[in-house]
Amino acid sequence: MALLPILRFPDPRLRKAAAPISNIDNGIRKLAADMAETMYEAPGIGLAATQVDVHRQLIVIDVSEDKTGLLTLINPEILAQEGLQAGEEGCLSVPGIYDKVERAEQVTVRYLDLDGNSQTLAAEGLLAVCIQHEIDHLRGKVFVDHLSQLKQTRIKSKLAKQARITA
Ligand code: NI
Repeated sequence: MALLPILRFPDPRLRKAAAPISNIDNGIRKLAADMAETMYEAPGIGLAATQVDVHRQLIVIDVSEDKTGLLTLINPEILAQEGLQAGEEGCLSVPGIYDKVERAEQVTVRYLDLDGNSQTLAAEGLLAVCIQHEIDHLRGKVFVDHLSQLKQTRIKSKLAKQARITA
């Protein structure tokens, strides 16, 4: 396994739409394993392939406390959603920035697992937020897109300052 470099907002590669995966081969299985390792190391609770500059529809998520709840979702698709919640979100591509985003409270998602089996998952709360956040990435969206223009401008200048300090 290997740690993968994570793209940082506002990198334009975060705007690319991911293509569906038609064949779950060893390359996809290795990508999923590397993404999980990268997510745990960061540490984070979700990572989309887009964030490691691979533009395929693959996400990994683990919202469990003890890191035993790894979910790998291939070609995820939200079939139904209900309710509203607003929680603080962050993103490994937008380090140090947290803000409130409104999302559906419950989602039903269909996806392929690593064996190519179709699965349907009903999620709520944090897991539902995480699924919506990661599917946004596959469509070229970042959570800050949900914030006001003023906030987005502030976030860009804050991240540019951070980049200068750490460079
Ligand atoms: Ni993110």
